[in-house]
Amino acid sequence: MRITSAEFVISVASAATLYDGGIPEIAVAGKSNVGKSSFINFITKNRKLARTSKEPGRTRLLNYFLINGGQFMLVDLPGYGYASVSDKEKDNWAVLIEGFLLKSPRLKNVFCLVDIRHAPSANDKQLITFLQHYSIPFTIIATKSDKIAKSKIPQHVGVIARELRIGTGNIIAVSSVEGRGEDSVLQRIDQILQPINAIED
Ligand code: GTP
Ligand code: MG
Repeated sequence: MRITSAEFVISVASAATLYDGGIPEIAVAGKSNVGKSSFINFITKNRKLARTSKEPGRTRLLNYFLINGGQFMLVDLPGYGYASVSDKEKDNWAVLIEGFLLKSPRLKNVFCLVDIRHAPSANDKQLITFLQHYSIPFTIIATKSDKIAKSKIPQHVGVIARELRIGTGNIIAVSSVEGRGEDSVLQRIDQILQPINAIED
């Protein structure tokens, strides 16, 4: 797969008004400031598509982006775990994200972004447990790999796998700044979008 076009479609503020474009969806989730919007811009090669910020908690809405004129939709989710957010806002976040995850019949996979430098947080683990509980497929994307030595990447991926009790094969290390990991991500998207071929004998 190659991503040749990406366009913003709509922002959604509540689970009651989810957008249905009639095409498969891949969501991008993760802690505030982990690099979700940068990741979307990186894989779509469009620096201005999703708004990025040094201030955590910038993305408060679900933002839908149409890829390749209708091949699939990328959905940028608001980040969690931002300390200075009020409890009420955290509740709103949970209702919005859980509503999205449970009420989007075309959701094919959730890209769960974690910072490659750190062990997953309690919130990261909660999200993974939630996805496993509802049998929602996910892929771990370990971001900001430019911040560690290349030789240390396997070690950090190992820690993330162990902490989340998943295989390292479901973790892709990327750097939006240095453009690392693009091929692996695009291959993964191919796998996600291709309906499993009927087993032929
Ligand atoms: P929220 O929308 O607030 O939840 O944040 P986000 O997850 O969308 O993060 P965003 O893409 O806005 O990036 C947050 C900060 O991390 C910005 O300062 C980015 O420049 C930086 N950043 C994102 N990806 C990378 C990366 O791969 N490497 C490095 N070094 N910095 C990155
Ligand atoms: Mg963002």
